[in-house]
Amino acid sequence: MDARDRVRSGKLVRSVKAVGTARGLRSLRAAWQRRRSDAVGLPRRGPELARVPGPVIGADPEPGGGVVRFARSSLRVRVTAGGAVFCGWDGAEPEPSYALAHGCPEVDERAVLEPDTVGGWRVVSERVTVVVSRTGAVEVRTPGGVPLRRDLPPRWWEPAAAAPGPEGEGRMPEAAGHGPEGCPRWPAGEGARWQQRSEVAADARFFGLGGRSSGPRLRDGRYRLWNTDPGGAFRPGDDPLSLTVPIQLVVADAGTHLVFHDNSWDGAVTLREGEEGEGSGHDRPGRCRLRMEGGPLRYWVIVGTPARVLHGWAALTGSPAVPPAWALGHHHARWGFGDAEEVRRVVAGYRERGLPLSALHLDIDHFAGHRVFTVDSGRFPDLPALAAELRTEGVRLVSIVDPAVKAEPGDAVYDSGSAADVFVRDARGLEVRGEVWPGESVFPDFTDPRARKWWGALYAERLAQGFSGVWHDMNEPAAFGAFGGTTLPRSARHALEGRGGDHREAHNVYGLAMARAGYEGLRELRPQERPFLFSRAGWAGLQRYGGSWSGDVATGWPGLRASLALVLGLGLSGVPYSGPDIGGFTGSPSPELYLRWFQLGAYLPLFRTHSALTAGRREPWEFGPRVLESAAAALRERQRLQPYFITLAQLAARTGAPYVRPVWWRSPKDRALRDCEDAFLLGDALLVAPVLEEGAERRTVRLPRGRWYDTVTGVPYEGPGQVVLDAPLSRIPVLARAGSVVPVTGADGGLELEVWAPVAGRKGGGGVLVEDRGDGWERTEVVRFTTRLRAGEVRVEREDGAAVDHPVRVRGLR
Ligand code: GLC
Repeated sequence: MDARDRVRSGKLVRSVKAVGTARGLRSLRAAWQRRRSDAVGLPRRGPELARVPGPVIGADPEPGGGVVRFARSSLRVRVTAGGAVFCGWDGAEPEPSYALAHGCPEVDERAVLEPDTVGGWRVVSERVTVVVSRTGAVEVRTPGGVPLRRDLPPRWWEPAAAAPGPEGEGRMPEAAGHGPEGCPRWPAGEGARWQQRSEVAADARFFGLGGRSSGPRLRDGRYRLWNTDPGGAFRPGDDPLSLTVPIQLVVADAGTHLVFHDNSWDGAVTLREGEEGEGSGHDRPGRCRLRMEGGPLRYWVIVGTPARVLHGWAALTGSPAVPPAWALGHHHARWGFGDAEEVRRVVAGYRERGLPLSALHLDIDHFAGHRVFTVDSGRFPDLPALAAELRTEGVRLVSIVDPAVKAEPGDAVYDSGSAADVFVRDARGLEVRGEVWPGESVFPDFTDPRARKWWGALYAERLAQGFSGVWHDMNEPAAFGAFGGTTLPRSARHALEGRGGDHREAHNVYGLAMARAGYEGLRELRPQERPFLFSRAGWAGLQRYGGSWSGDVATGWPGLRASLALVLGLGLSGVPYSGPDIGGFTGSPSPELYLRWFQLGAYLPLFRTHSALTAGRREPWEFGPRVLESAAAALRERQRLQPYFITLAQLAARTGAPYVRPVWWRSPKDRALRDCEDAFLLGDALLVAPVLEEGAERRTVRLPRGRWYDTVTGVPYEGPGQVVLDAPLSRIPVLARAGSVVPVTGADGGLELEVWAPVAGRKGGGGVLVEDRGDGWERTEVVRFTTRLRAGEVRVEREDGAAVDHPVRVRGLR
């Protein structure tokens, strides 16, 4: 047995243990089958030749920029109306794309391509200048000329067969044709791997790349771009997870920029932060290397403040869906509720203790034999009645939905899917089978519009059962395998919107396309309500359809930290609505850990307890009276902040700003803040400092500039700087920015404006209110307030001059 076999058999033993012997053996079979289909279905990788663009030979202006021609490639630079810049090598165009919400935005006609003084070319636009060197390096500069990023000339590796000749690297293959602009064009895509190295400022920090298990600041290391079910609970450092996005947000003194490589193939980003030469002038720049296994080399760059950059991102890839108001309350989930009676008992537990509960989630155990779109009628004899009963108590039911369909004639979903021919097939035309919860399963091809339509219509059954929302899981897609990965064979065929291709390209967009299917289905079936959907896997643009969650985060203090990193990272990757499994997915948290997790979760968009089949209980009353009392306080505070959460959800849809933001959000030049990972801003007004360490009852909190009030004691603190605050078991420190306006639920249940005293002599402050108008598509109004302190009195005014028509409660005034 060689080392690889030992690892494989180790994994097999684990998988057998994890899922039972029969399933373990089926996983082994599935893994062999996958290997076999890849062996026959994928082109063999033969000798390859490397290519770089070579010297510049000319350029052709186009609206918004133009094409720079090189001896062995071409680069299109196009500035679009919102300020986002497109760069496409080798003839790559912005479309087709799974990321773009409305196709390619209009070009900015004012941007022009012009020669620079050293033989290269440049495109100058209002917000950014792109300089293309004679050898194909691309520098992105601020309008003031400060470099933000330098992409070195890319390099491709192509099958030697397509490029005969002895000259090796840099040689032009004979197969090359000429693009419409008269510049060389290569048969990019299939088989052509590529790499791009980039440099950023020595002080720059990297963020983004989707949901990662540590961060949100991405340390030196390699981050894979391949949505992966970690197979068991994950811990900080485990990489990748279920939702990767090839987006980097780079924050430096010189400015913030975002780079998005619109390519869904497997790849990896290797990051290395820079180092400053302490005044010696010998700075080591930050470095980044992106290697992709295929697909086009095309990317978008957006430059500006963090808020502007994410606004640009939402303009490009779509506005985040606004969850219905109830989805901003508390959710309780678990795998293994047992039966309807247990569900009733849990809901009664909340009710009897006066604890607010908005939604209860049913996992795969409520399905008949784990089959999607079914109900185990023995354990849930009348689900619609249960749903209606819970609804009268203000509790909604949310259903898990897995993509895998049991491959068994007679199964209604399988039969209708087979008849419609919507399941993924292999290169030989056979249905691809994989082992998932229901047993041997097939997988809808969500990259086929017909399959999406068919799948979306199936949600009628969920609605008829009384569910109000859906939770998409196992959609990396996950298929148990004893070795060689836990997804479909890379050779599996996909429609890719009619273009045709295989799983190497479709894998990362599978969850995204499933979300689209679900979202569009729900919209059609229940047009008067906004769909509520969140998904474990996804890609650039998932926010158009819904949010996400942590997936199976391991119970333990490191898992608690990972959950915050993940939510912040997802927000900076354009997915603002998410949250962790409170208490962790596995095992039993200590009462203290559970409480700290609960207190953090109360300030995150998706506030949900969830756990595995074999895990301990997660109800707030299961951890003793002290925990219950403090968890109840967190629940009540969440309820009080509901109008603020509704406002943040609406603002996210309008501006792309996540609800939960890193503390550097408004002060990206504050280097100490850039490194701060144990606190976050909730909107503009609040700074939340969760306790992430066992035994801690005090903690240091790094404050951005300005005055901040401890919301419990009212004590003011001045930032920037660090303060030490009490964090007794009963609460975590939450601070409010002086001058801010926080819409809250008042004691009488009505909306109230909580105003934190502005600082005398300073500019004052303000805030925003967007009121809930229902769970449909009602128009909402953004009301802006300004606050001032005058003669010891706080004045609150509406920016539009109308009267302030909600009670105002001033806090922090001495
Ligand atoms: C996956 C999900 C988890 C769910 C379980 C059973 O592990 O991440 O949330 O409980 O499957 O459906």
